[in-house]
Amino acid sequence: MVDSERKLREPGARPRPITLAVPKGRILKVLVPLLRQAGISADCLLSEDRRLVRESDDGQMRYLLLKPDDVPTYVEYGSADLGVVGRDTLLERNYELYQPVDLRVGACRMVVAALIGASIPAVPRVATKYPRIAQKYFAGRGVQAEVIFVQGSVELAPVTGLSDLIVDLVETGLTFRENGLEERDLICPISSLLVANRSLFKLHHDRVAPIVDALRRAVEELGPG
Ligand code: PRP
Repeated sequence: MVDSERKLREPGARPRPITLAVPKGRILKVLVPLLRQAGISADCLLSEDRRLVRESDDGQMRYLLLKPDDVPTYVEYGSADLGVVGRDTLLERNYELYQPVDLRVGACRMVVAALIGASIPAVPRVATKYPRIAQKYFAGRGVQAEVIFVQGSVELAPVTGLSDLIVDLVETGLTFRENGLEERDLICPISSLLVANRSLFKLHHDRVAPIVDALRRAVEELGPG
């Protein structure tokens, strides 16, 4: 047993907070009400300052505010017990994570899109932030696509002739409409999932499992979306 674990178990010792890694940005606004519904103190996430580590008022939770793509890394290496991650990130990269709850927030979909009315060559060029998802999708259809990795503003690729198709997320559809694109196929629905470090989940089961269960119940209570 390491020293920090021994301290955790000493009689009278205050247990260390459970660490939840969350993505910075718009998802926090829907995540905080869900945490509240689960009885988890999270108001500290709403203050607009630059602190990357925040502790809840009741001292039960510690939050790490991260770039969305970094959340699974912090959980996988055990710097966080739990994390909130988009299914898109989990599909794109391989992580050894337990995925106990679909939180149903941040709902959007992964699609194939093209310029409205454009005809697509037999070997299309496909721009995307998700090369692995794109490769798998086209390989599954026997299409030999040339996948081009871009970091963002993916919709620009067909507009400028960089690609014939894109694989990207669509939420409201506004970006597609305003750039003359149309959906050609749905790859899969996307939402945010609760993930857990497998070893820490077992080690701190008595404290982490109730949080997972409370969030599962809160998702059911709040219903879809
Ligand atoms: C995401 C996504 C689409 C857009 C879809 O991009 O990649 O571009 O949102 O949203 P909409 O259907 O509601 O218009 P994001 O805003 O994260 O920026 P990025 O393009 O730089 O990745």
